[in-house]
Order: sequence, then C-alpha cells, then structure tokens
Amino acid sequence: MIYITRKEHFNAAHKLYNEAWSEEKNDTIFGKCANKNWHGHNYDLFVTVKGNINPDTGFVVNLKDLSSLITRDVTNILDHKNLNLDVKGMFAMPSTENVAIFIWNILFPKIKEMGAELHRIKLYETESNYVEYFGE
Ligand code: NI
Repeated sequence: MIYITRKEHFNAAHKLYNEAWSEEKNDTIFGKCANKNWHGHNYDLFVTVKGNINPDTGFVVNLKDLSSLITRDVTNILDHKNLNLDVKGMFAMPSTENVAIFIWNILFPKIKEMGAELHRIKLYETESNYVEYFGE
C-alpha cells in the first residue's frame, strides 16, 4: 500500500453567518468570515489516494488522470464561485470542514473507479488553518 497526493488550488467566496443569531454573536463566533458582503479565500487542496502499485506503470494512479478528475469535478465547480450561493449541493454553512466533506463525497466513488482509494482530503483555507477529512 502506498500513498500519493495531488495538490490543486481554487479561489472562492463565502460567508459564515447563522441567521438564527444576532449580528454581534455572528461577529463574535465567525469574525471576518461573517462579513455580510462576502469575502474570498485562496484554497489549497491536497487529495491523497492509496493503493497498490500497478506493475505495468509503477503508479498507484496516473496523477495526470487524478488532476483531470479533480479539475473537472471539483475545482471547475468551486473556483471563482460563491460557495453559499453558486454551488449546488453545498452545505448552508461553507466552513472549511463542510467544503472538505463536500469534496470527499464527490471524489470518493470516482477514485474507486480509477482502481485506488481516496485516503484524505486536506484543505487549507488560509496558510494557518486547514482541515483533514478521512471519510469518518
Ligand atoms: Ni472565510
């Protein structure tokens, strides 16, 4: 079993705001992410897959194919979008946690079809903050 990671990038806007709360409470909990008129993040996405090495290629998966899959099914859907308004099926609260799970759910079955297994989604929202999701 060996693990391999492809890094991709996208930019997106969002707002973290709980309508059931006062503006003050939203500001306290979400800080700058509660800004009413949206704001953007530069997301770095690390997709790690695991599997056995194909003796014909020496690869677990062809990273070119993995990159094409991520571009087609994830970054084309999220890049330069408003995560609250533009993305069908997105959670009401597009926190880094929820975006990572959203990406996992898209990629997991498709990476299986490629003959490997999705191991981890690692998503950086800022240089200092990232989420890891392993499917459980
Ligand atoms: Ni934010």
